[in-house]
Amino acid sequence: MRWGVFDSGVGGLTVVRALRRQRPGVPLVYLGDTARVPYGIRSVDTVRGYAEQAAAFMRDAGVDGLIVACNTASAVALDVFERCFPGPVLGVVEPGVEAALAASRTRRIGVIGTPATIRSDAYGRRLRSSRSDVSVHSVACPLFVPLAEEGWITGDVPVWVARRYLKTLIEAEIDTLVLGCTHYPLLVPVISEVMGDAVTLVDSADAVARAAALVEEVSPGGAGGDGTDRFVVTDMGGAFVPVAAHFLGESLSSLETVDLV
Ligand code: DGL
Repeated sequence: MRWGVFDSGVGGLTVVRALRRQRPGVPLVYLGDTARVPYGIRSVDTVRGYAEQAAAFMRDAGVDGLIVACNTASAVALDVFERCFPGPVLGVVEPGVEAALAASRTRRIGVIGTPATIRSDAYGRRLRSSRSDVSVHSVACPLFVPLAEEGWITGDVPVWVARRYLKTLIEAEIDTLVLGCTHYPLLVPVISEVMGDAVTLVDSADAVARAAALVEEVSPGGAGGDGTDRFVVTDMGGAFVPVAAHFLGESLSSLETVDLV
């Protein structure tokens, strides 16, 4: 089964990394909307418009299933992807919620994400509707995205930023923290240093890769097209290539551009 992986930019490569870790050689088409990143500070209507265009691209690319790696798009526009894409669509919120509920003992769960994801309360609503005894503590951490994009993922600056953002979560004595943004898995060493060993970090990239494996068991789909991976962006100007090398641990063999508008 050939998966389409969509993100607003480079961050969804953490999902590609998780997919490849679980199933080396999985064929895929990656679309990063680098011309319009970040989505996390935009309005719901704007993100939903972008989602429609991304779904149409994936439909025309002929992938069998679609993973919406972007937490912001998953939180506010998953229904748009489901309406516009003919195959199975996986968002990251549901798998992240399930992994958090499985990990938490005290039912005190933290969620961090972009301002749009946190404002939508997509994680909080699903956590509370799954278990009435859950207490959810959510914090938007917008500066984590540019830090990850710049590769500032260790050292004083990210630690200082993390201490500011995560203070209320430490005070709330959570035992599980959902990394509700594509970029945050890159900051795991810093986030776990600040939160301490007693807090389990839930990476929604790993969780959605496991969900994809389950979908493949019930509907294996086609043979994966010609088996060639495609990496596509909407703008070449950013640091996609070096950041991709960092995220995936290997250089991309080719990078295409597309105009989604
Ligand atoms: N991909 C976005 C997310 O996971 C983070 C970057 C952005 O704001 O577009 O929410």
